[in-house]
Amino acid sequence: MRVLVIGCNGQLGSALMPVLARNRSLAVLGIDYPDIDIADPHSIDLVFGGFDPDFVINCAAYTAVDDAETNEDMAMRINGLGPRYLADECRKSGTWMVHVSTDYVFDGSATSPYAEDETPSPASAYGRTKLAGDQAVQELLPASHYLIRTAWLYGLQGSNFVKTMLRLEKERDTVSVVTDQVGQPTYAADLATQIGLLLDRHPAPGTYHGTNSGEVSWFEFTREIFRLAGADPDRVLPTTSAEFVRPAPRPAYSVLGHDRWMQEGLPEMRPWREALEQAFEDGISTD
Ligand SMILES: NC(=O)c1ccc[n+]([C@@H]2O[C@H](COP(=O)([O-])OP(=O)(O)OC[C@H]3O[C@@H](n4cnc5c(N)ncnc54)[C@H](OP(=O)(O)O)[C@@H]3O)[C@@H](O)[C@H]2O)c1
Repeated sequence: MRVLVIGCNGQLGSALMPVLARNRSLAVLGIDYPDIDIADPHSIDLVFGGFDPDFVINCAAYTAVDDAETNEDMAMRINGLGPRYLADECRKSGTWMVHVSTDYVFDGSATSPYAEDETPSPASAYGRTKLAGDQAVQELLPASHYLIRTAWLYGLQGSNFVKTMLRLEKERDTVSVVTDQVGQPTYAADLATQIGLLLDRHPAPGTYHGTNSGEVSWFEFTREIFRLAGADPDRVLPTTSAEFVRPAPRPAYSVLGHDRWMQEGLPEMRPWREALEQAFEDGISTD
């Protein structure tokens, strides 16, 4: 099976490439901007023509959540139109598409985990642009897509919250972190393994939630990062979103339900704490 990974140098894409390379039944091509521009149909056409994939995994996105508030047009080109162009090319060539999306399509006002079929209600520009891309994939490839929503992603490559906290632990005596945003920190290598499982087992198409299981606040998550780094967790101080305002609103409750995996006979992803321990074993370090 021929698999095209778009955005292969990003945080998720770079975790995905070695996982897929271990599967000898796959011929894998990784590509990233500027060798492909998903906001340009001609560029997509050229890459498809040269490789003729059976599966496309789209990890490419405009991921600057705060910048998207003032650059929504640009974010929409990449997150909204890009997946539409990709899905259209997949439709014409009979290719399946794995498209990666986000918890930000929900506003975070829930108090129990969001089900896969919950109606989205984004509160940020980034969330609106990602939702536009998701809807295009669902509309154009109703029977040949996997929409994988992930959240709070961290990996060995790229910048992310875990790496930032490890740096701040070295630079500061204390660090203040919000207690009133709860979610599911997700190790990119675990999500990569789960996507590998999708290709292997080929369950029913549709939406799946690609997050490590359990839930935790950023504050408690940071305490665990400090503990694993051998630092005193009491150097992490509690604060609130009201005291730590950022351009894009953050969902207060970003917990995604995993029932769909179980319905399809597949395991959900492991608990976030085990995944974080694995990231430390794998050598995650400062950005
Ligand atoms: N990071 C998170 O916490 C998080 C949370 C929830 C969901 N997600 C979703 O997970 C997916 C992967 O995220 P990530 O953290 O791995 O993102 P990332 O590290 O920002 O990687 C995205 C990749 O896409 C590339 N790209 C940007 N514009 C492109 C274009 N027009 N054409 C082709 N490639 C382009 C980027 O290249 P350049 O570097 O050259 O721009 C980069 O290599 C995304 O769909 C994201 O929305 C992420």
